[in-house]
Amino acid sequence: MISVKNLTMRLAAGGQAVTILDDVSLDIPTKQMVAIVGPSGSGKSTLLGLIAGLDKPTSGSIILDGVDITGLPEREMTRYRRQKIGYIFQSFHLIPTLTAQENVAVPLELNGDPGARGRAEELLAAVGLRDRSGHYPVQLSGGEQQRVAVARAFACRPPILLADEPTGNLDSATGRQVIDLLLGLNRDHGSSLVLVTHDAALASHAERIVSLRDGRIESDKPSRR
Ligand SMILES: Nc1ncnc2c1ncn2[C@@H]1O[C@H](COP(=O)(O)OP(=O)(O)OP(=O)(O)O)[C@@H](O)[C@H]1O
Ligand SMILES: [Mg+2]
Repeated sequence: MISVKNLTMRLAAGGQAVTILDDVSLDIPTKQMVAIVGPSGSGKSTLLGLIAGLDKPTSGSIILDGVDITGLPEREMTRYRRQKIGYIFQSFHLIPTLTAQENVAVPLELNGDPGARGRAEELLAAVGLRDRSGHYPVQLSGGEQQRVAVARAFACRPPILLADEPTGNLDSATGRQVIDLLLGLNRDHGSSLVLVTHDAALASHAERIVSLRDGRIESDKPSRR
């Protein structure tokens, strides 16, 4: 269960305080797939980053399976995130000096998994990149890089998967493959899946669509899938 309570985020920009999220509350049950939609600048990425503990809110809290992550010291937050949360960035964020296999192995090695390399190979095979494991990110297409990023985010089988516009940089056919991968992980492993998207095709797969506007929840409805 992801529980977002009265979350507010204010930042100073050009000497002025700007309210980016304004008293947002949201409960996401375990295994649910939610799409977060809304215009550019409405606070979607900020909300997702706060749920991942990448940033601290001005006020309010985020409780993941009973743990209030807003109160965790940075070191504990990092460990918690590694075990519980897979994050997929719009722009992939692969490490350029590591091969696909090494990129996927990073979170496993950080968790002390002695079979990290083998498991990375399996994960790459599962995303259709068995023969690409020795390739560096520059040698991969955008869709292939995003599939490596999905494999990496899921490497430690996190109960929570967060994806910020995972198909934003992909053509529709490649986007489709990434959508199918995410849906499969949500379905087969019961990972909660929260994704930010402009893509109506992707949002239509969610059980629920939360729409943000100017840092507030404008609507929160079951999708008509
Ligand atoms: N570090 C920051 N300092 C000041 N303002 C910021 C900062 N980060 C984000 N913002 C502002 O907060 C607002 C929300 O940003 P956010 O990235 O969450 O929007 P978004 O809904 O993800 O938009 P997009 O669809 O374009 O990705 C924007 O107006 C942005 O300019
Ligand atoms: Mg964004």
